Amino acid sequence: MKKGIIILGSSNSNGNTQKVTSYVSKLINYPVIDLKQKKILEFDYEFNNRHDDFHPLIITIVENYDLIIFATPVYWYTMSGIMKTFFDRISDCLTIEEETGRKLKGMEMAVISSGSDKILKKGFHMPFLESAKYLGMDYVTDVHCWIENETIPDVVKIKIDKFIKAIM
Ligand SMILES: Cc1cc2nc3c(=O)[nH]c(=O)nc-3n(C[C@H](O)[C@H](O)[C@H](O)COP(=O)(O)O)c2cc1C
Repeated sequence: MKKGIIILGSSNSNGNTQKVTSYVSKLINYPVIDLKQKKILEFDYEFNNRHDDFHPLIITIVENYDLIIFATPVYWYTMSGIMKTFFDRISDCLTIEEETGRKLKGMEMAVISSGSDKILKKGFHMPFLESAKYLGMDYVTDVHCWIENETIPDVVKIKIDKFIKAIM
């Protein structure tokens, strides 16, 4: 069976994206890494941040998993800042962590988003799709979710079921 991991990039470790992420994780038994609990600094051209949590994390991911699910809230029509910082740091894998970068090739990517709007604006997935393409990853699918009264509505659960079928 495919081994997958969920990367949660929300500013709220117990927020809406976490609710969805934990629901998905329980259904498919994928571990969740909460970026908010990690020290991952912004991209640095001098790589002075190379000893933060990014390198051990990305190495663990490429060595143990086939599929990465990026779970992000929609903040100002795009991915969260925490998630974007993670993507910026993938640039380290094109330079000082090249071997790790090569291992991303052939891995799969999927995306979970959560917003207050039920419809995502056109282009939301472009950075994920293009990054996957650039890195030689396979973009599998995505699902957009929202929360109502602190819970996942049935209509969203149906979307999540479809998402899970597509990634398995
Ligand atoms: C800074 C900020 C910007 C937001 N921008 C959007 C937006 O552009 N579109 C949208 O649908 N929801 C937007 N929202 C609402 C969140 O996407 C939504 O409440 C989401 O489920 C929050 O997930 P979280 O609890 O993991 O942060 C925004 C929320 C915040 C805090």
